[in-house]
Amino acid sequence: METSRGSMNLYLIGKPVNHSLSPAIYMKYFEAIGLGVKYKAIEVERDLDRMFNWLRDNSMGFNVTIPFKLAATRLIDELDEHASIIGAVNTVKSHKGHLVGYNTDWIGFTKALLMAGPRGYGGALLIGAGGAGRAAAYALARIVDTLYIVSKTGSTAATLSRLATQWGVSKSKGVKATIDNLMDIARRVDLIVNASPVGLNDPESSPLPARLIPEKCVVLDMVYRPLSTRLLRDAQEKGCTIIDGLWMLVHQAVENIKIWLGLQADPLQLRNYALQAMGDNS
Ligand SMILES: NC(=O)c1ccc[n+]([C@@H]2O[C@H](COP(=O)([O-])OP(=O)(O)OC[C@H]3O[C@@H](n4cnc5c(N)ncnc54)[C@H](OP(=O)(O)O)[C@@H]3O)[C@@H](O)[C@H]2O)c1
Repeated sequence: METSRGSMNLYLIGKPVNHSLSPAIYMKYFEAIGLGVKYKAIEVERDLDRMFNWLRDNSMGFNVTIPFKLAATRLIDELDEHASIIGAVNTVKSHKGHLVGYNTDWIGFTKALLMAGPRGYGGALLIGAGGAGRAAAYALARIVDTLYIVSKTGSTAATLSRLATQWGVSKSKGVKATIDNLMDIARRVDLIVNASPVGLNDPESSPLPARLIPEKCVVLDMVYRPLSTRLLRDAQEKGCTIIDGLWMLVHQAVENIKIWLGLQADPLQLRNYALQAMGDNS
């Protein structure tokens, strides 16, 4: 195992980070396999450049979360192929101070979505066009005929829609998340993905009104706190197949452990650690 300048520390940087289950997942895993690696969350107020320089010397790697995944691409020394195409980094490995950035969100997303079966989709509605939305669009470009993207402002959705076309999706449209747009799009899709923070820490808010959710579609919500979001509960009532955000989180954690330590972790084991930390074993 290679460590950067002797450090056995991994970090999560973002703002906010207090909702994250990553420290609980990784620390329990390292304890279980008897590895003296520590994983700590740091809330970054400002001066991301300085933080990256500190991490360069004091970590073996780190995760980047909301809202720094896009900014991280310009602060590292090398990008892997997928992170470079997606334009967002969520995992960094330090090779003796040389920082290499990866995107494992798209892999976590792909593996979580596979729980609905290995299939393609006629139309998908992607809500959110930030770092997580980019990773999802990249993954969806291979399995969706038409991709509809909505965001708060609409401009980020339009930009991501153009990128998705370059990534191979045959038809794509990016617009503002108004009720009229959502109404028009929702009736054309068989997959809905929430890559916005709507629902985070709020069990009653949803990015899509219940009446617009098509029956028997597939719904993946990246929000994992609460695990059972309003969107997922509404979708379940419509007979949809639902996938919670914790599946995506643990599948990307499996990839990160492979990158940092060369070890193969079990996603179910990591999920159980997360559920224990949430105090919910159901
Ligand atoms: N489960 C997992 O493993 C996993 C992994 C990554 C992220 N996540 C979660 O995914 C969420 C997004 O993360 P991120 O890093 O992509 O955040 P981000 O970069 O801040 O992007 C958030 C996106 O959501 C859009 N948005 C905000 N409110 C909206 C609304 N009411 N309707 C439609 N779109 C809206 C924003 O629109 P504008 O661009 O117009 O501002 C933006 O495009 C967070 O809750 C994060 O915790 C989960």
